[in-house]
Amino acid sequence: MASTSEAGARSPVTGCCGYNQPLEDLCFSSPALCLPGWPCSASGSLFSPLPKALTLCKYFEEQKLSFWGKTVIELGAGTGIVGILATLLGGDVTLTDLPLALKQIQENVRRNVPAEHLARARVCALTWGLNHEEFLRDYDFILGADIVYLKDTYPMLIRTLRHLCGPHSTIYLSSKMRQEHSTAVFYDGLLPEHFTSELAYRDETENINIYRVTSKQNS
Ligand SMILES: C[S@@+](CC[C@H](N)C(=O)[O-])C[C@H]1O[C@@H](n2cnc3c(N)ncnc32)[C@H](O)[C@@H]1O
Repeated sequence: MASTSEAGARSPVTGCCGYNQPLEDLCFSSPALCLPGWPCSASGSLFSPLPKALTLCKYFEEQKLSFWGKTVIELGAGTGIVGILATLLGGDVTLTDLPLALKQIQENVRRNVPAEHLARARVCALTWGLNHEEFLRDYDFILGADIVYLKDTYPMLIRTLRHLCGPHSTIYLSSKMRQEHSTAVFYDGLLPEHFTSELAYRDETENINIYRVTSKQNS
C-alpha cells in the first residue's frame, strides 16, 4: 500500500486521552478508504484503543459516506482520527478541541495527511459554549466521537451544536452509553429540544451508539 505520510509508514496517533496507537495497527476493510500508513488487514480487535472514534470511522466506511467538496467540523477531536479520515475522504475539514489538545492534533494531521491535502485540514481551538461564533454556521457535517461524557458541559455542547448546525447540516455523534456519565440524559433529554436525532448504528458488544442528528428546522 502506498504511504503518502511524510513520516513514513509508522505514524503514531496520540492524544489527550492517553492514546498511543500506531496508525499502521489500525485498519479499514475497504482498500479505497485506507489511511496513509494504515494497512488494510482484517483485525477488528485492534480498534479497542479508540473505540468510539473508530466505530464512527468504520461506520463512515460501511455507509460509503462521501465528504468530497463538503465542509466538515470535528468537535473534541482528541487524536484527530475522525477529522483526518474525513480529510482523506475529500472533506474541507476543521478539527477542533480545547487549546491544550491542538499541538498533538496538528502533529497527527501533519503525519497522516499528504502535503497536497493539508490545506483541507485546519486545526483550531473551539471550547464548547465559548468561542463557537468564530466558526461558520451550516457545516455540511459536524462530527463528534466520545464528546458526550461530561454532564456539566452538555448545555455548552448543545449551544455550540445549535450555532454550527444549519438546515443542511448532518451531525454524527458516537458515544459509549455510560450510565455514570448520564449520556442518555444528553441524547434523550437535551438534544431533542433542538434537534431531530435517530440511532444510526449500535454496537451492542461495546455499548456504543452512533446518532445521526439534524436541525429541527429541517422537519
Ligand atoms: C473522550 S475525548 C474523545 C477524543 C476523540 N474524539 C476520540 O474519540 O478519540 C473528549 C474530547 O473532548 C474534548 N473536550 C472536553 N471538553 C471540551 C470543551 N468544553 N470544549 C471543547 N472540547 C472539549 C477533550 O479535550 C477531548 O479531546
